[in-house]
Amino acid sequence: MTEHLRASDDEHIPVMPIEVLDLLQCKPGGIYVDATVGLGGHSLSILERIQPGGMLVGIDRDKESLEKAQVRLKPFGDSVRLFHENFKNLPLILNNLAIKPVDGILLDLGVSSYQLLSQERGFSFQSDALLDMRMDRTQQWNAADLVNNLPETELAGIIYRYGEERLSRRIAGAIVHERRKAPITRCAQLASIIARIFKVRGHQSIHPATRTFQALRIAVNEELEGLEDFLGEAFSFIKPGGRIAVIAFHSLEDRIVKRAFRKLAGRCVCDAPPDLCRCPRQSLGRILTPRPMTPKTEELAANPRARSARLRSLERI
Ligand SMILES: C[S@@+](CC[C@H](N)C(=O)[O-])C[C@H]1O[C@@H](n2cnc3c(N)ncnc32)[C@H](O)[C@@H]1O
Repeated sequence: MTEHLRASDDEHIPVMPIEVLDLLQCKPGGIYVDATVGLGGHSLSILERIQPGGMLVGIDRDKESLEKAQVRLKPFGDSVRLFHENFKNLPLILNNLAIKPVDGILLDLGVSSYQLLSQERGFSFQSDALLDMRMDRTQQWNAADLVNNLPETELAGIIYRYGEERLSRRIAGAIVHERRKAPITRCAQLASIIARIFKVRGHQSIHPATRTFQALRIAVNEELEGLEDFLGEAFSFIKPGGRIAVIAFHSLEDRIVKRAFRKLAGRCVCDAPPDLCRCPRQSLGRILTPRPMTPKTEELAANPRARSARLRSLERI
């Protein structure tokens, strides 16, 4: 990893930057999309590779992150176009720019360390910030709205589905019990409600609120909704021989990426026996990563936060 890809501790170190550049085969004159610009770490290394003549379209739904990226990427002038948008609007953005097709698309999913560690953003059970968790702060609802208003069964469903939390019903029950007394507005308040349930159950290797906070974050930002369809749509904007690369940070996300890529590669995605399978078998792409790539030991030593990253890539044929 080159030195300029490092950021200070509360910022974000791009994950598997070399692998991403190699998979995307970034070349001078190419047109690339970084659909999750964040602080611009990956964008910066892509831009360095695609000069002269290349162009990068960058998207992020987090205005603060995008503003930081804008400063960092300024030396590249008109070669970079940044958009404060949900990446699900990528087709609209590319159509408006009259750009089609592109050489490659990168998605580095989830939250950045910058977001997670920004105390006032309310993503972390370790902070006493307002329970917010919105990536896009112009969004109407936040985590406190879900926690204080959702029916108990719905809350339990979210915690179970997006947090894979076995004690989802007990946690939802405790939340509803507490919110009858007073609204739950702060991260530390919610973390301590959850911790009380686990205390009687003995030692845990991770903080007991980890899975519930992940679930709420995914729900607030609707991170998994429509992701599979979006990957299919985004892929249609890539030219033959071009590639998409996606970094996922938890198994739910990675499963969606794997399934979307299999579908696009014309593989079966159902559980039916072969003679009953009705999966469409039209092959639009070639899977480049039969198994997801993971960070090397050297990278993990420098950036332990990369440990759960899974990188998959598909080439348009
Ligand atoms: C893991 S970070 C990306 C870090 C970036 N690759 C870097 O090197 O700095 C993920 C980023 O994606 C953004 N994001 C997540 N979901 C998004 C969506 N649906 N639309 C646009 N941006 C999204 C988040 O706001 C966050 O900044």
